[in-house]
Order: sequence, then C-alpha cells, then structure tokens
Amino acid sequence: MALTTDIISEYSFAKSYGFLDKPGFSPEWTKVMRGAAEASMLFRYVPFLIELMKASPPWLVRLLDPNMMQLINIKLDQEAQIKAVIADRQSKNQSQKHKTIFHELLESDLPESEKTILRLAEEGQIVIAAGSSTTVHYLKSTIYFVLADPAILHRLKTELSKAMPDPSVLPPTHVLERLPYLNAVFKEGSRINDGASSRLARISPDTDLTYQQYIIPRGTSVSMSTYIQHRNQELFPDPETFNPDRWLGKDSSRLERYLVNFSKGTRGCLGINLAKAEIFLTLATVFRRFDLELFETDRSDVDAAHDFVSKAKGITHI
Ligand code: HEM
Repeated sequence: MALTTDIISEYSFAKSYGFLDKPGFSPEWTKVMRGAAEASMLFRYVPFLIELMKASPPWLVRLLDPNMMQLINIKLDQEAQIKAVIADRQSKNQSQKHKTIFHELLESDLPESEKTILRLAEEGQIVIAAGSSTTVHYLKSTIYFVLADPAILHRLKTELSKAMPDPSVLPPTHVLERLPYLNAVFKEGSRINDGASSRLARISPDTDLTYQQYIIPRGTSVSMSTYIQHRNQELFPDPETFNPDRWLGKDSSRLERYLVNFSKGTRGCLGINLAKAEIFLTLATVFRRFDLELFETDRSDVDAAHDFVSKAKGITHI
C-alpha cells in the first residue's frame, strides 16, 4: 500500500506521500484506507453521514480515531495545493514543472462549478483511493498465487533471469510486457483477482440500449458481475486454479475480451496503463531480486470475502 500510494501521489500531485520511507512502511495507512472503504458502504445507504463527517472539526476526528487524521491531513494538503495552483495560474507564474491533475482540471473546459476547491480536492481523494487499494489487491494476491506453486515460481524466475541478467537493471515496461510467461501471469492475476467483484451499475440516460433481441429502455440500471464472468467454466476451465498456461495456448488471445477486471468502455478504468506499468515493474523486481516464501499465509488470505467497492450515488451514467 505504501508503494502504490507513493506512486499515485507522485504521479498525480507531483508529491510523493513518502510512506515507503516511514518505519514499517506506514502500516497504519492501510488501516485508514480499509476503514474508509468499510465506512463507504454505510455512507452509500446513509448519505447524510458523509456530510456529518465532512463538517466535523479536525480535533473531533483526532479524538475519535487518530489514524483518520492522515486522511484529513491529505485533504488539507490537497486544498492548499489547489489554492497554490490557482494562484500560480492567476499570476501567470506557472512555476511548477511537473503538472498535477489539478492543473489539467483547472485548464480544462469543464464548467466552473466543477472547478471549486472542494470539488477538486474530492477528485484528488478519489484518485488516491482508485489508484492505491486496487493495485495493492492485485499485487498481494498475484504474488501469493505465484509463491504458492513452485512450478509457476520456477518458470517465472527462469524467464526473468534471462530478461534481467543484472537484477539491479530493470528493463522498460514495454520490454517486460513482451515476456510471454510474465504476461500470462499478469492476465491470470487479472482474472482471478476480479478487480471490482460487485456489480458496477450503468445507466444510459438518453437512448434505449439494444442487447440481442431485447430493448433496454433508457434510464434502466444494467450491470454484470466480474466475479461470475471470470469463473465461467466454459471459458476458463477449473476457474479456481491459478493457471497462467491458459493464456499461452494457440487461440488464447480470444479469451482476452472476457477479461473485465478494469471494466471497459467510456467509464472503464482511467488508470489502466499506470496500473499495468506498476504491476509489470513490481512483479519483475520482486521475483528477480528476492527469494520469497509464504509464511503463515494460505489461500484463505487471498480469496474474496467481501467487496467494499462503492460509490456515493452507486450508479454511473454512460
Ligand atoms: C489493478 C489495478 C486496478 C483495477 C483492477 C482497477 C479497476 C477499475 C474498475 C473496474 C473501474 C470501473 C469502476 C466503475 O465502473 O465504477 C475503475 C475506474 C477507475 N479507475 Fe481503476 N483500477 C485499477 C487501478 C487504477 C489506478 C492505478 C488508477 C490511477 C489513477 C485508477 C483510476 C481509476 C479512475 C479515476 C476510475 C474512474 C473512471 C471513470 O469513472 O470514468 N485505477 N478502475
């Protein structure tokens, strides 16, 4: 979680939160993010609670849960950063070299109502949540599956030894993406980890949708389940087994269209390329440089038990 949060904060806000540099990699940050995700389920059904929380003074939050101050501090920090970007733009100073998402949003043709400090800060927090917990979930689970099967671990390490003769020199992402076995591990990780397993509802507000012989009237909420799709026996025999070989067969490329862990279409994952780069670089580094083994960890530690992916309003318009 420290790794992915540092990457997304540096990438989006030109400022790493530095969790990797803190003792034990800031384990309390993982608890904060998990707590926020759990609370979001409550907020989804009792939305006024979110307003109550936002209105609470920081001293009260510190009293109730000191760890939550990390979230408050990030929010305050982002508000200060947005104000600095606005001031920078007004004075035509533009001193910051690495543009942030706030620069892009402020320079865009979005209506002014979408550019308030509060609105932009909330967008910043969404990016942190969307860009950290997701990639963590993928990495921790895929690393487990590779370590749990000595044959898979051996094949991956052998391929990486050839591609990275010097373990301290990491090839660029596009080279790693072309390694057949690492690529197969990436796809199998995408399948078995699901991304968001709950239904991500969509509404077409203006036009009716046509699906096979059915007409779905505009305004109807439609959704599908990644969890069920990724366990379709006909497409993925023995679906509960982590098997990268299913992506190495002659006609395996036809399976790719059924992988939906990043969702698809206009509201699919905005961070897919960043996530892929993080995943390829991290898997290559971890398995090339370290000899890891599982410790007091088994399948029950990675199997899905719940899904806290949620949205305040629950539904996305397409
Ligand atoms: C393995 C990692 C990741 C997975 C599995 C994943 C999965 C998803 C999924 C399924 C959605 C669609 C949600 C919905 O339909 O409501 C989504 C949306 C989104 N993701 Fe990711 N994501 C990952 C990493 C990232 C990263 C690194 C970022 C960094 C910016 C990111 C940013 C976003 C954003 C901003 C959206 C909302 C897009 C929109 O509503 O238009 N994601 N992601």
